[in-house]
Amino acid sequence: MFYDPVESDFYAWCVERLLRSEVAARYLSHGIVELGAGTGLPIAAALSRCEATVPVRGFERDPKSFQVASRLVAAKAPPGYTVEQGDFFERGVDGPERVAVANPPYLAAPSGDTGTPELWGGESGAEVTNRLLSGPFDVLMLMVASIADPLGVIDHAQRSGYTVADWCVRPIAFGRHSREPGVHRRVRELRADGRAFSSEAGYLLAGVTWLRDPTDPGHTPATVDMNADVLRRVMVTAAEPERVS
Ligand SMILES: C[S@@+](CC[C@H](N)C(=O)[O-])C[C@H]1O[C@@H](n2cnc3c(N)ncnc32)[C@H](O)[C@@H]1O
Repeated sequence: MFYDPVESDFYAWCVERLLRSEVAARYLSHGIVELGAGTGLPIAAALSRCEATVPVRGFERDPKSFQVASRLVAAKAPPGYTVEQGDFFERGVDGPERVAVANPPYLAAPSGDTGTPELWGGESGAEVTNRLLSGPFDVLMLMVASIADPLGVIDHAQRSGYTVADWCVRPIAFGRHSREPGVHRRVRELRADGRAFSSEAGYLLAGVTWLRDPTDPGHTPATVDMNADVLRRVMVTAAEPERVS
């Protein structure tokens, strides 16, 4: 079961930022869906802090996490947040919601070769993220890791018709899961291919809001292209700077 005080709190903060944003305001009346509730605590915290009444349907595939989330959401979350057990892609994409959020699994490893399959993001780490970006949503707020093909993700979003409306970023130290030998090896390979960016200490995690509506006021293509472009350059800076001797 995944809960990390730094990462999960940052995700909660990014959801809070989305809830308060003008970008999302006109899409929220149909509610929000979430891939991967984990413990349920991030969304519970974001909704409580904003005193938001928007309904959120979280989906959690991992049975242990779902059990914990059910208990914690009942005890701590506002009534609009519910968590259902099951695969988001089977049950979460056909509802009325136009906004989706996720801190998706992003550990890269060959064929699920990791001790934490619920955190596995395919061979590049970006498979779940790219699948979300191929879905039907108008607004997506997704956490994007610099060790999981971030430039490929930004390109994929652009090809799917999305523009970057907002983003923020913070460093994350390598932890128990991202230091697993299979993951570590795969990240080194991705680094060599220019598909992962990290230093000895860690990597960057961005909360990125994508919008697929060119008529939205305040998000002209020029502004949005600049957002994506700057985000690209920032993700690359997670790589170890070259030493000057
Ligand atoms: C990185 S964890 C994030 C958990 C929580 N949102 C947080 O930030 O603390 C990703 C979660 O997504 C869940 N998950 C992965 N793929 C899923 C899917 N297709 N449907 C539902 N849940 C999924 C995993 O079981 C895991 O709990």
